[in-house]
Order: sequence, then structure tokens, then C-alpha cells
Amino acid sequence: MRKVSVIGAGNVGSTVANELARREIAQVCLVDVVEGFAQGKALDMAQAGPILGYGALLSGDQSLDAVRESDVVVITAGARRKPGMSRAELLSINAGVVAGICRDVKKHAPAAVVIVVTNPLDVMCYVAKKSTGFPRDRVLGMAGMLDSARMAAFVAMELGISPVDVRAMVLGGHGESMVPVVDFASVNGVPIRQLLSEEKIEAIVERTRKGGGEIVSLLQTLSAFYAPGAGAARMVEAVLTGRSILVPASVWATGEYGIKDTFVGLPVIVGEGGLKKVLELDLDEAALKGLKSSADSVRAGIDALSSEG
Ligand code: 2OP
Repeated sequence: MRKVSVIGAGNVGSTVANELARREIAQVCLVDVVEGFAQGKALDMAQAGPILGYGALLSGDQSLDAVRESDVVVITAGARRKPGMSRAELLSINAGVVAGICRDVKKHAPAAVVIVVTNPLDVMCYVAKKSTGFPRDRVLGMAGMLDSARMAAFVAMELGISPVDVRAMVLGGHGESMVPVVDFASVNGVPIRQLLSEEKIEAIVERTRKGGGEIVSLLQTLSAFYAPGAGAARMVEAVLTGRSILVPASVWATGEYGIKDTFVGLPVIVGEGGLKKVLELDLDEAALKGLKSSADSVRAGIDALSSEG
């Protein structure tokens, strides 16, 4: 059976593990530095199996040795921004965490596909790629699916219809510079511009950009986890089963859209073994400009980290 390791058994990590266990597509191994935490979560999930009707193999471990021979490693571990902590401080703390994890991934699971969820997302993807030395098709960041799902949910709420019929695509970095591409948002193929006024669309775009912050301000001490967990699990599913998906994901750009030498959310096909293809779609001038400037802001984060040594 294929194996997925999820590093960090907090809310996001355990949601990913739970989503995967329910799909029964892999053996799921949760890892957390806190003694007993991953073991406890894995045991609890295993005990839900008889009720919910799944029988996936679940385990928990404190040591990163447990990632041995994983086909996919999902990285969710890292600090959250605490009051008074700057973005730069968070960046440097989490870069250390992700780099440490990646050294073990490289050693124990050299053929794995790495899916990064830790924030600041795009910069952490860079750290993962650099620390593993893996090719770009095996280091992906999950954020675009989350941001797109948020936009789709807002469209559905505004129209009072099921979100299942709504599609949206948000490109760029996972931050306020993200680019919700209005032209790509539709309800069963009907462009949202035919269904909603410019003002309503603009409000949805703004709310999407601030979607993570909205959840934090409601939860106070926590950030979102159901939607991020679902997004990461969906990417893992595509990688493991080969049922490819066209989604935005953070990838190392090599000239697409005139962007290179940075991770940024681009439209891609994810499937068996990771990144299959980066799509160069026609974007209107504003979206293209927004995407380039979002890429610049991620690159500034990468540069800040590199200059720190
Ligand atoms: C979010 O967007 C915090 O990145 C996380 O919810």
C-alpha cells in the first residue's frame, strides 16, 4: 500500500490525515514533535473507522524516521503568528522547521512528492525545494485550492446556490496579493459576470483575499483547517491515484507568465508523481499584472530569507 506521512498533527495536519484515512487510498502516518500527540490522534481516527466504515492503516510517531519510504509527505508543521510577532520572525522560525523536516524527508523518503501547507506558503515551498534538492515536479504548495474554494463558497453564498456547481481559480502567492481570476469563475459553465454585478464581484474578490484573516479573527487563537486540510488531501489523492486535477498550486516558476526564480500559485495539472504541467492560460492585463507583482512579493520574502543566511 502507498504511504503518506503528514508532518504536524495540529488542526490542519489531522484534518488532512482524517480526509485521507476516509478515502482508504494510503497508509497514513502522522508525525508530531509533541510526545504522544500524533499517536493519540492516529488512534482516535482509527477508532472512528468502525463507525464511519473505513479501515485505513493509521499510525502516529514522534520521530521523523517514520517518514521512511513515504510516497507523499505533507508538511503542515510550523509556528502560528502570535501577537507581537512580525511576519519576518514567523518566516525565519518556520523556515528552520521546514528545513529540518526536509532533511529527514530527503534521507528517508528520497522519492517522495512533498506538499507544503506551512505558512508563509510560497516561501516555505522554496525552503522545501532547497532543503530536499527535489526537482520541481515533486515540491508543490497547497494554497490556491483553498483560496479558490473560498471564492467559490462566497459566490455560492451570494447566489444562494450549492457550492458544488461553482468553480473559481485564484492564482498568485498566498497572501493579500493573490489574484482571484474573475474570468475563470463560473457556475456550471456560466461566467459569474453574467450572474453578479461588478460591485458584488469586487466584494467577493476582496473577501477572498482576506479569507484567511477573516477566519483568524473569528477563531481568535486558531486559523482555518477544514478547507486547508481538504485541499491538501485532494492534492495527495491526485498524486497517489493518478486522477489528475487542474488546480492552482504553488510551483517553482521557470519563465511562465514572465515569472521565474520564485514559487507562486499558477494553474497546473497535478497527477501521478506530482506536477504534470504548468498551464499558460490567457489572462487579462490586470490579472497578469497582479500575478507578476504577487510573484515579486514572494521573491522578496525568499530574498529576505536568503540574506539572513
Ligand atoms: C489561511 O489562509 C492561515 O493560510 C491560512 O487560512
